[in-house]
Amino acid sequence: MHSEGRITGLSDDGLGVLGRSDRPIYVPFAYPGDGVRVKSTRRRFGRLLAGDFELLEPSPLRVNPKCLHFGTCGGCLWQGLKYREQLRLKADLFERITGLSAEIKGSPKIWGFRNISNFIVTTSGIGLKEYGSPLRIVDLVECPVFSKRTRDYLHSLRAFLSETGLKPWNLKKKADDVHYLQVREGKFTGEVMVNLIAHGKPSEEVAEAFGDYFSFADSLYWSVKRNERDDPTGEPELLGGEPFIRERIGDVTYFIHPNSFFQTNSYALPLLLRAVEGFTDGERVLDLYSGVGTFGVWLAKRGFAVEGIEINPFAVEMARKNAELNGVNAVFRVGRAEETPIGDYDTVIVDPPRKGLREAGELLVKSGVERVIYISCNPRAFKLDYENHLKKAYRIEDALLVDMFPHAPHVEAVVKLVRKN
Ligand SMILES: C[S@@+](CC[C@H](N)C(=O)[O-])C[C@H]1O[C@@H](n2cnc3c(N)ncnc32)[C@H](O)[C@@H]1O
Repeated sequence: MHSEGRITGLSDDGLGVLGRSDRPIYVPFAYPGDGVRVKSTRRRFGRLLAGDFELLEPSPLRVNPKCLHFGTCGGCLWQGLKYREQLRLKADLFERITGLSAEIKGSPKIWGFRNISNFIVTTSGIGLKEYGSPLRIVDLVECPVFSKRTRDYLHSLRAFLSETGLKPWNLKKKADDVHYLQVREGKFTGEVMVNLIAHGKPSEEVAEAFGDYFSFADSLYWSVKRNERDDPTGEPELLGGEPFIRERIGDVTYFIHPNSFFQTNSYALPLLLRAVEGFTDGERVLDLYSGVGTFGVWLAKRGFAVEGIEINPFAVEMARKNAELNGVNAVFRVGRAEETPIGDYDTVIVDPPRKGLREAGELLVKSGVERVIYISCNPRAFKLDYENHLKKAYRIEDALLVDMFPHAPHVEAVVKLVRKN
């Protein structure tokens, strides 16, 4: 089946939209203004998704992508778009989904900005998943959004596998040894953490070889994975170097450890932190979903009295360490946001996971808190939380977008909500 025409817009998830509005074809890696011929389609979750397509006439919004894996790798759907167009389209999508028009701040760096990469290690390749196919892997040579050293990291891994005879994960059989290589870089400290995620502990000999091939790492972990899921998690054991690496964001230093989330774009993070700071008022701040204390420690450094609540005990331990490291007044506790009584705070910050606040939204409504700052990379979840809960007690006063994810359609939103009188 061949379908020819011009891409007229973008879907909410950043795919080019081709054809009739009642039966559109969604084309990954195509942009508004492109003339395309779609060569194959498949049905996915009720919509028609293009497979291969021919670019008949490029859109004026296009730029030459930097990465040789562009067009297959699932990491960078928008790398073929000029960066200023990416920003404009992100703000447009956010407005279309939420109804809010907001200024967008671009990332100060659009290459080498990611401080983490999770390379899946499989019999069909080592790298990242192809767009839309969980079983097809891009055998990676480079990753310009992550690091110039990607080649070296992958070279060390391949040499290590070849010498030890450890087998990459077999995606079809769900069997064998090594499943992920996670590398983290402190962009402002130069520190590197390497964490191999494998199905079993290493022998002494293997552990020694691992240390030799990754001798450049400041922190070296081996994580034992006890399930078959394709995610880079396991029980980490330190094999060499320091238990943490550090990242320096402005005047704050953060410890990073394999077991907890850290914002992935070190260069845009100061913009995000300043946006949150700019919307914060009063003295007492509650940081709900505080993670490793990214916002809480930053605000405490600026004199706010901060309390943080976070479900992951390990992240709480890290947040406490981060508060101590920076010598600030911030207290972090393990807890579930939806079970946390909201007392007498001037500002509450919420940075929930992708599914949003849900019941925690009602607690905010019932609280007497004057200001809520909602941080989200999922505008749909924000909209639902606002429409279903927060709107009963809060109005939207301001919003700012920060591009933490150049070359992907996502954007981070910071929304300031103020209590209705
Ligand atoms: C998007 S991350 C944000 C973390 C932190 N604000 C940061 O910027 O690093 C969301 C955090 O919410 C935590 N979380 C998930 N469900 C939770 C819940 N029900 N109650 C409290 N924290 C939760 C996760 O463990 C994660 O650390």
